Amino acid sequence: MRVLVTAGPTREALDPVRFISNRSTGKMGYAVARAARRRGHEVMLISGPVALPPPAGVDVTDVTSAAELAAAVADCVPWCDALVMAAAVADWRPATVSARKLKKHGYGRAMTLELVRTEDVLQSVRDAKGDRLFVGFAAETEQLVTHAREKLVAKGLDAIVANDVTHPDAGFAVDTNTVALVLPDGTAEPWPNATKDAVAERLVAWMEAQR
Ligand code: CTP
Repeated sequence: MRVLVTAGPTREALDPVRFISNRSTGKMGYAVARAARRRGHEVMLISGPVALPPPAGVDVTDVTSAAELAAAVADCVPWCDALVMAAAVADWRPATVSARKLKKHGYGRAMTLELVRTEDVLQSVRDAKGDRLFVGFAAETEQLVTHAREKLVAKGLDAIVANDVTHPDAGFAVDTNTVALVLPDGTAEPWPNATKDAVAERLVAWMEAQR
């Protein structure tokens, strides 16, 4: 398979020195890219800013913002047989980006930041899906499976990996994850807590079985 993986956070600039981002470290997406490569697939990785080494044998494209990520995914989707969207894409960006550093003396005791929605990357490539396998990730803090199911349907996915980011051994920055694989038939298969490498291996094996 040709596997396209996205990983890491995006950064949405406010001015030359500040940005809005999230707590993603890219560990889960990088584990998926490594697992797919290990299992003999061709792998492209589109990565937000992370502190991880590029996986050997994987073609890496670095991006910063959600808009850059969306453009890179749109370019690469025609190439792939499977897309795994593990990136934690920012949902909002500052409505304006100041060319100069915002100085606090320009404001009173408070400043109001206007944010606008970024593009939903998975929605934006929906028309190009065809018989490609599209797998999403859902980072949730409550009603894990319910919210993941809603995203699976809204984004037209073949599967979504739901993870509870409030769990101490799962989610951001740790090397383990506790997930449930949610499928279009409504089933949710809980996977036991395991290393992100093991979760990635199991996910890629599941993807292979779908082809
Ligand atoms: N995603 C995307 N484009 C966005 C936001 C998210 O393609 N602008 C993808 C993510 O990569 C992930 C899936 O959609 O595979 C679900 O992401 P998540 O952040 O859990 O959900 P959101 O759709 O952003 O919804 P909410 O933030 O309201 O939970």
